[in-house]
Amino acid sequence: MSEKILIFDTTLRDGEQSPGAALNVFEKLEIAKQLEKLNADIIEAGFPISSPAQFEAVKRISGEVNVTVAALARAKEVDIKSAYDAIRNANKKRIHTFNSTSDYHISGKFSDPRYGNTLSEKRNTILKMSYDTVQYAKSLCDDVEFSAEDAGRTDINYLAEVIEAAIEAGATTINIPDTTGYTMPKEYGKKIADLFKKVKNINKAIVSVHCHNDLGLAVANSLAGIENGARQIECTINGIGERAGNASLEEVVMALKVRKDFYDFHTDINTKEIYNTSKMVSSFTGMIVQPNKAIVGENAFAHEAGIHQDGMLKNRETYEIMSPESVGVQKTKIVLGRHSGRHGLKARLKELGYILSEAELQKAYDSFIKLADKKKEIFDDDLRTLMGDEIVPRNEFYELVYLNINSGTNSIPTATVSIKNCNAEYSDSATGDGAVDALFNAINRALNLQPNLESYQVRSVTSGREALGEVFVRIRHDNLSFTGRGVSTDIIEASGKAYISAINQQELHKAEQKNVEEEKEIIKAV
Ligand code: KIV
Ligand code: ZN
Repeated sequence: MSEKILIFDTTLRDGEQSPGAALNVFEKLEIAKQLEKLNADIIEAGFPISSPAQFEAVKRISGEVNVTVAALARAKEVDIKSAYDAIRNANKKRIHTFNSTSDYHISGKFSDPRYGNTLSEKRNTILKMSYDTVQYAKSLCDDVEFSAEDAGRTDINYLAEVIEAAIEAGATTINIPDTTGYTMPKEYGKKIADLFKKVKNINKAIVSVHCHNDLGLAVANSLAGIENGARQIECTINGIGERAGNASLEEVVMALKVRKDFYDFHTDINTKEIYNTSKMVSSFTGMIVQPNKAIVGENAFAHEAGIHQDGMLKNRETYEIMSPESVGVQKTKIVLGRHSGRHGLKARLKELGYILSEAELQKAYDSFIKLADKKKEIFDDDLRTLMGDEIVPRNEFYELVYLNINSGTNSIPTATVSIKNCNAEYSDSATGDGAVDALFNAINRALNLQPNLESYQVRSVTSGREALGEVFVRIRHDNLSFTGRGVSTDIIEASGKAYISAINQQELHKAEQKNVEEEKEIIKAV
């Protein structure tokens, strides 16, 4: 029997740290339920101390899934306490605490003399701090993971010392992050092998790999770690994450499955749920999957060249190392229409990973009928898009209630909008370089805001003239990015919805910051 590799999914934590990929609580819950269906072993649900919204999301997820829920915490008691409070109700829970170990991080983050004056003094402080905080985490929760941040660039002897101390303090999983995506597969594999030689109590913990993709080597490095003794891989759906992202879950899982002859390992991932999960994450985060992305890209199973098509017809294995069905890509497209009915819609949505309450199903059905009036054939991608746009509740500060555009070859594009929130309705008009520019200017004037437009992307969800158009907008404010998404058969309306949705994310963030400031004031006053 082959050995099992644990899959630790961090889409909702490291993945959500991708610029502009912020998810709301409801989106996180849907993704967590889908990750459970995918059969991930551990779901890292967030970083509770970092914001009230993060805390709330981790808490909600903990109450609703049956898989191990991990929460991240720095090596500080207040972080660890907050992580524990957020996962307290989970059936299976893990505290994941981390501390910096590389000289780069020590000189950057521990420059204050209270940590010591020399590198050696600072290293001692970090060692003790790691021991103490793991011990504290262990007093709250049996399952404790310790990560040595920037382990990829950490001196091996010091790394071994810190890890030995963390295991002694009670850590049951030891994670070796290549935080900056710097290492080469051979080098990273050797680091893992060396730790098995140098850390006396290493057999009391599971060694985990956590690789970033700055040089495009996250998957290769993760596999090198597994070859050298690690038994847990930390990864994200579609490889999303900080900067160039993390190791992609679908790639590591399929590499181990397709090349079982080479590795002789297995995971418990239900690979047939990979495609649905990828689509859900892409749609909620607004991060479009590149067409040539391995496993889940639109072209991953497309054979264009005549010689390839001919070979495929004769024998599929000529050019295909895994079948599309094995990752959940449907061979035949299932089409729904106006007459499909509520039951048909409910059954198809369930197959796509959406389990809805009666009220949600009614909302989904109403949107489905509206769309079916405009578009005769409704494909899976249309349904996924509808789910992302209409059904998952968003924190709606503003809603676009009226929109009128005048645009033509010899006229100045002009837009008029009305936007409401719970207090009032705001209307204004503006001109612009084109219809979309005029629309965004009108929204800015109506709301008296001036966000910086970072990116605007439009795509058709399925083919055909009456296809749904999906727009992603990213705006920047105070050094933070916010993404919005809008869908309609009318691209201008979709653009307006996407822009307002990004503004809503920004407003949500402002409200959260305000709450945090107010709480601080209350604590000070007490
Ligand atoms: O990349 C990293 O070092 C991390 C840690 C917090 C585990 O994400
Ligand atoms: Zn990371």
